[in-house]
Amino acid sequence: MAIGEKLFRRIYGEAARIGRKGSFREREQFGLISRPNYLYGMLRAADCARYFGKTRVTAVEFGVASGAGLLNMVELASLIHAETGIEFRIVGFDTGKGLPQIQGYKDHPEIWNPGDFAMEQREQLLGKLGDRAEIIWGDIGDTVGPFTQSIDATAPLGFVSIDVDIYSATKSALKCLTGPTESYVPALSMYFDDINFFFANEWAGELAAIAEFNAENALRKIGQDRSLPGHRPIKAESWYSAMYVCHFLDHPARQTTATRPRLSISAHAEFMKSRFLF
Ligand SMILES: C[S@@+](CC[C@H](N)C(=O)[O-])C[C@H]1O[C@@H](n2cnc3c(N)ncnc32)[C@H](O)[C@@H]1O
Repeated sequence: MAIGEKLFRRIYGEAARIGRKGSFREREQFGLISRPNYLYGMLRAADCARYFGKTRVTAVEFGVASGAGLLNMVELASLIHAETGIEFRIVGFDTGKGLPQIQGYKDHPEIWNPGDFAMEQREQLLGKLGDRAEIIWGDIGDTVGPFTQSIDATAPLGFVSIDVDIYSATKSALKCLTGPTESYVPALSMYFDDINFFFANEWAGELAAIAEFNAENALRKIGQDRSLPGHRPIKAESWYSAMYVCHFLDHPARQTTATRPRLSISAHAEFMKSRFLF
């Protein structure tokens, strides 16, 4: 590192230096790119897809509202493509009319009302997205089945954001994880937007839907992302606890060993690091 750069780092700190001169991966690690939670999940999807020899991967946002998140996703997809070579299929789901009927305590009626977050300026959003993302309109309970059938091994599902606020919609959305194993990367990154507020609990909302999914599926389990914060330079970020992983324990890649040279202890860390497995 040049003397000027060292001096800059000493005065302004490492994050400022990375912001100015850092690589894409470094800026990701320091949370310097917008929607770090989506970036993290989508990058995990791309790295995981590449590790398993894929060239494309699918990323989904359940709950689009006015499209801020979906627009982030298309921007992030092009940055990640430049870094990894992996292309994204991006899909959003929404009623277009805001939250549907609230169906009891599990949907948190103390907070939400039907019609909340109705989409504004639909045509404008579609114009901005162009062909970089698709939106599947309607109640997720009706649309998730055909979508799940549309995913295949050429672009396995690798990242899912659940931002639908309520239990009933989350319960429907998680059905996208019940297709044939080849439709998924073996460990799929997930973001749950509505689990960190005072009324949140395991018996209602998105957390209840996760618990029920795990009870209903013997070899597919959604658990917290145990790699966070791990080796990341920023040890505490509010979004870390909202990141989960769906483990496809029935995936062929998780049944048998792969053919590769034997690892030594010293080569192990480099193997994990270079493939983004930590
Ligand atoms: C908080 S907003 C999403 C915000 C958006 N992800 C963002 O980052 O700007 C929640 C959205 O979930 C959608 N939603 C909730 N339940 C749904 C269902 N059953 N089917 C389709 N969309 C649903 C609502 O229409 C609403 O727009």
